[in-house]
Amino acid sequence: MVQPQYGVLVHGAGWVAGEHIKAFQKNPHTRIVALSSRRMESVVQRANDFGMTDIGMYTDLEKALQHKGVDIVSICTPQHVHAENVIAAAGAGKHLVIEKPIANSLEEIRAMRDAVRQAGVKTVVSFVLRWNPLFSTLKNLIAQGAFGNIYYVETDYQSNIASWWAGFSEARLKEKGVSAMLVAGCHALDAARWFAGPEQDKAARVTEVFAYYGGWRKGCTREYNYYTGEWADNRPPLEYEGLEVYMLKFENGALGKVSANYDCIMPYTFPIEIFGDRGTVKDNRIWSHLFPGQKGWIEIPTILPTTADVGHHPFQGEIDHFVDCILNNRESHCNLEDAAHTHEIIFAAQQCYATGQPVRLPIL
Ligand SMILES: NC(=O)c1ccc[n+]([C@@H]2O[C@H](COP(=O)([O-])OP(=O)(O)OC[C@H]3O[C@@H](n4cnc5c(N)ncnc54)[C@H](OP(=O)(O)O)[C@@H]3O)[C@@H](O)[C@H]2O)c1
Repeated sequence: MVQPQYGVLVHGAGWVAGEHIKAFQKNPHTRIVALSSRRMESVVQRANDFGMTDIGMYTDLEKALQHKGVDIVSICTPQHVHAENVIAAAGAGKHLVIEKPIANSLEEIRAMRDAVRQAGVKTVVSFVLRWNPLFSTLKNLIAQGAFGNIYYVETDYQSNIASWWAGFSEARLKEKGVSAMLVAGCHALDAARWFAGPEQDKAARVTEVFAYYGGWRKGCTREYNYYTGEWADNRPPLEYEGLEVYMLKFENGALGKVSANYDCIMPYTFPIEIFGDRGTVKDNRIWSHLFPGQKGWIEIPTILPTTADVGHHPFQGEIDHFVDCILNNRESHCNLEDAAHTHEIIFAAQQCYATGQPVRLPIL
């Protein structure tokens, strides 16, 4: 039997796009048929990087969407244009891989959700750590009851995001980035939802959030580069607070604490703590009722979320999962509807900053 082949358009030709391209090139059911971005220079560069000679190249998304044979569109542009990109691609009937954060406001999310529902296309949002081997292992163990009922989860996104990231020039702006939790801390928020949910392929829902912001980097023009260990002056400042801490109540009764910390002076770290009534997780160390008489932590030798480098992120797992969803006509556990809830929590926290009161969900 001939296996289906899906044509892919990657829109946005920067850092993360390279990983999407690699993953689609390796999947046996997909082939890149077109690339588009703001500048043709970037499109040509990316095409050369990955040896793609026979593809369509565009600087206009509408034209790229009309390229023959496009079935899937990967949205790899900055967050402030995701909504318009997703609405255009869904309107053209394309399945969508959407980079996080999906949008900059609840209004944008509502419009994207409407467009996707109306088009009936499949979506996956790049909360790519769900495919990290430690995440998969822990989720399996949680679903098998290794830690009993989960009553508390703590996850933290600790990364000194700065000018080393090309996207920082726009993401540091209040208008385009909005907040540290939205730009990058959303990975930790998604992780808390993922681990608080007892079911294999489902993230827990949040019913209430209270949040504080703080830290020291907002407005600061001195910048640390943890890759080189050097400080630089006269850098464009971060326009929002670099530290946010959320307290969460989950629908299933569990509590959560999640932080986004851009202000840390150290390399990227993504600590995970999960507490159940029959066991505990501290990163890749576990304590479980399944091991009676356990005398010390059991360490799982696996791949941890230890770097911000996209080359280390499991995009292959995400893309293979998504293609499988399309082939088998099933929804991803990480589709737009699910990711919308993670973003809803972030916009609820923004309301909390304005009122000083906890915010009950849903607000979307
Ligand atoms: N899931 C993850 O773990 C992960 C990791 C990193 C980034 N991301 C997300 O991925 C997205 C892209 O990040 P990145 O690191 O790839 O950024 P990047 O390296 O700056 O690349 C962004 C690309 O989009 C293009 N672009 C910018 N504005 C555009 C517009 N208005 N229309 C069309 N193209 C436009 C850029 O333009 P040129 O054509 O001028 O080059 C560039 O090629 C962001 O939402 C980011 O948060 C996710």
